[in-house]
Formats: sequence, C-alpha cells, structure tokens
Amino acid sequence: MTTTSKTIGVGLISVGWMGKLHARAYSSVPYVYPELGLNTRLVIAADTEPSRIEFARDVLGFEQGTADYREVLAHPDVDVVSICAPNFLHAEIGIAAAKAGKHFWIEKPVGRGADETNAVRDAATAAGVVTSIGYNYRHAPSVEHARRLVTEGRLGRITNVRAVFFSGYASEPNGALSWRFDRKLAGTGVLADLFSHAADLCQYVVGPISEITALTNTVYTQRPKVPMGTGTHFAVIEGGEMGNVENEDYAAALVRFGSSAAGAGAVGTVEASRVAVGPECGYQIEVYGTEGSLKWDFERMNELKVCLGRNNDEQGYTTVNASPKYGDYSRFQPGPGNSMGFDDLKVIEAKKFLVAVAGGEQLNSNIHDAASAAAIVTAAESSADSGLWQKIEELHGTTAARA
Ligand SMILES: NC(=O)c1ccc[n+]([C@@H]2O[C@H](COP(=O)([O-])OP(=O)(O)OC[C@H]3O[C@@H](n4cnc5c(N)ncnc54)[C@H](O)[C@@H]3O)[C@@H](O)[C@H]2O)c1
Repeated sequence: MTTTSKTIGVGLISVGWMGKLHARAYSSVPYVYPELGLNTRLVIAADTEPSRIEFARDVLGFEQGTADYREVLAHPDVDVVSICAPNFLHAEIGIAAAKAGKHFWIEKPVGRGADETNAVRDAATAAGVVTSIGYNYRHAPSVEHARRLVTEGRLGRITNVRAVFFSGYASEPNGALSWRFDRKLAGTGVLADLFSHAADLCQYVVGPISEITALTNTVYTQRPKVPMGTGTHFAVIEGGEMGNVENEDYAAALVRFGSSAAGAGAVGTVEASRVAVGPECGYQIEVYGTEGSLKWDFERMNELKVCLGRNNDEQGYTTVNASPKYGDYSRFQPGPGNSMGFDDLKVIEAKKFLVAVAGGEQLNSNIHDAASAAAIVTAAESSADSGLWQKIEELHGTTAARA
C-alpha cells in the first residue's frame, strides 16, 4: 500500500442506521490507519427524508445534500459510493453506480434474491469497479482467529457447524411495520436480513455451502404501519393502523458443505429469527472437528471459546480474549480485555474497501460473496416452499474462498 496521501471523495445514499455508520467509518480511517495515507472527503449525501439530508450536512459533515441519489452518482468529485438504502433499491442503485464508474460499498442483502444480486454482479464486473459488502461480522478479531484455526487444521477434520442469528428487534407484537416486512421493499424477511449474514460467516470460516433444505415461519402476521424514513426497525407503535407482514420471521436450515471447503464433507444447521425474546443480537457460530471445537457469540464478540485436543488434563473450553494478535484489534485497543464494538467492525470494513479502491489487495467481501449468499437465501426460500433439498452452485471470485 502506498504511503502517498490520497483523498477519496465519498458519496452516501441513504442516511439511516447504516448510512450514518458508513459516514463515521470513512471519517475514522485516516486516524485509525494513518500509515495508509488515505484521507476521505464527505462530498454529497442523498435521502428522501429532508431531516436526514440536514443531518448528513449539519452533523455528519457532508458538503452537499440531495433528495435524488442520481446526483450522488453523477457528482464528479465522488470516487466511492455507499449504498445504504432499503433492499428494494439496491439492485437499481448498484447497477447505476457501476454504469457511472463508481466503486461501491453496498449493504446486504444486495437485491431481493439471486436474480437481482446477479444483475448487480454482472454490471459491477463489466464496469470493473471495486465492490464491498456489509458482512461486517467477518472482521471481528475473534472470527478472524476462528477462521485461522479452521484453515490451519487445528480442529482436525471439520464434522459439523452450527450457526444461529437470533435477534429480538421484532419480538414486540406492536413493533413497527418498517420496509423490512414488505416483500416488495425487502424481498424475503429474516432470510435476507439475518440468515444471509450467518450464511456468509459459515462460508468465511468453513467454506462454501453446497446444499440446503429449509423451513420458515411467520409469528406475527400484522404490525402497525410506519412512514419510510422515520424511526428505526426497533420502534414500537401503540394503537396505530395495522398492515400485513409479508415475509418470514424465522428460518431454519440443514446444510452440507462442498468439496472445496476447509470443512469438506461437513454438515450443519443455520437458523435465524427476528422475533426472539432474550437474545438481542445472539449471533453465534460453533465449529466442531475431530480434534477440537470453537464457539463465538457476537453478544460477547471479544471472546472465543476454544477446545483443542480430546485427552487434555483440563478438558472443556478455554475462553480466549480477542487481543492485538488477532485481526485489526491493535488498531482499536492496546491490550486484551478493552473491548471493541460493532461500529469498529465498520471502520475495518471501510479500510478494506478504500485499500482495494486505492489499488491494494481486496480483503473485504465482494459482489461475488453477495451473489453466493443470495444463492443460498434463494435456495432456502425454494426449499421452504417445496420441502426439497436444493443444490447450490459454487461461485468463483469470492473472498470467502481460501487462497
Ligand atoms: N451490515 C449490517 O449489519 C446491517 C445492519 C442494519 C442494516 N443493514 C442493511 O442496510 C440497509 C439499510 O438499513 P438501515 O437499518 O440503515 O435502514 P433505515 O430504515 O435506518 O434507513 C433507510 C434510509 O433509506 C432512506 N431512503 C428510502 N428511500 C430512499 C431513496 N429513494 N433514496 C435515498 N434514500 C432513501 C430512508 O429515508 C432512510 O433514511 C438495508 O439493506 C439493511 O439490510 C445492514
């Protein structure tokens, strides 16, 4: 990576939860990674909600604001674009960004299923732009360590994997009917929202999933309506007008890993819920092998439970603290025990994206990883409809694949 200073112009599309986080992450890169010489300039932000345009200008520090995302893509000073809009706009904006020659960092899920995601992939590939996907959990130092233990064979032959993403954001029956519950605006429900993260993490830590069978369930079929651009998907509305929930709250799947996986021949389960009472962001992966196992839970993201060897005097799990030895931890905290948080993962993601844009190695997930996760989600949806196992073609060009 060059140490020559370079200023990268940033455009932002949508100033919701993720949009604000992307903006802060870009601004953090120069002081978390000063040796990269990468400066960022927040050029223009778009949102259809006027108060969010104001926030982007007055608080986040963007030079300009607009209600039309096309102005972001047409701006000559914009080198990279963050696409943080609701899911139904991802394909339209992703394809337009590629055609405008802008590198883009897009939130998951990229489109409402495999067809839309593949269309974005084809446009990005044709335009030769750098892409980056919001699979932020990959960057947790404990996850990086888990991947290394699997890759180095420290767990022996991987036999089975258990991934769970249980959130409570919609566990309240009067939780707002945000765009996430509308099939036209979101596509699938928890499959696109949380299951896709879990699928990506399985593929990042263990390798490609090759077959799936799934079932889904909707627990609350009506919720109070909320206007776009107000509140969050955690909002609760008492006595509001009700509307229909059009996608699933819960999904469970059995999976098989493909022959090119570090865990070739392994099997596993993947589950996701947005209505769990108890876990708030209970995002866990457990990997079991013939010589050991590991467990990670995002709610304790700075810890990894590891058991190596069958016949030790001290059997059971050791809790290993994230430390400067793992991933990018040292950039945030000088020693183990000083925890990192969710927002830090977005700073790492921004760094990886900007390094690739500046001509360095592509280390973050890319549009091929998004297409791969979308293929799994679409196969899970088909299986839930038909009750049959679905095969998943292994896609090339992902960064989840081992070098
Ligand atoms: N990586 C993660 O962990 C993670 C976490 C949360 C959300 N996400 C993803 O990020 C995306 C955004 O989610 P969020 O929680 O930030 O949503 P949000 O509801 O907080 O924000 C969405 C924003 O989009 C704006 N918007 C709507 N139509 C628009 C248009 N035509 N042009 C410009 N802006 C428009 C809304 O006004 C709102 O400000 C989703 O795809 C979601 O799946 C990812």
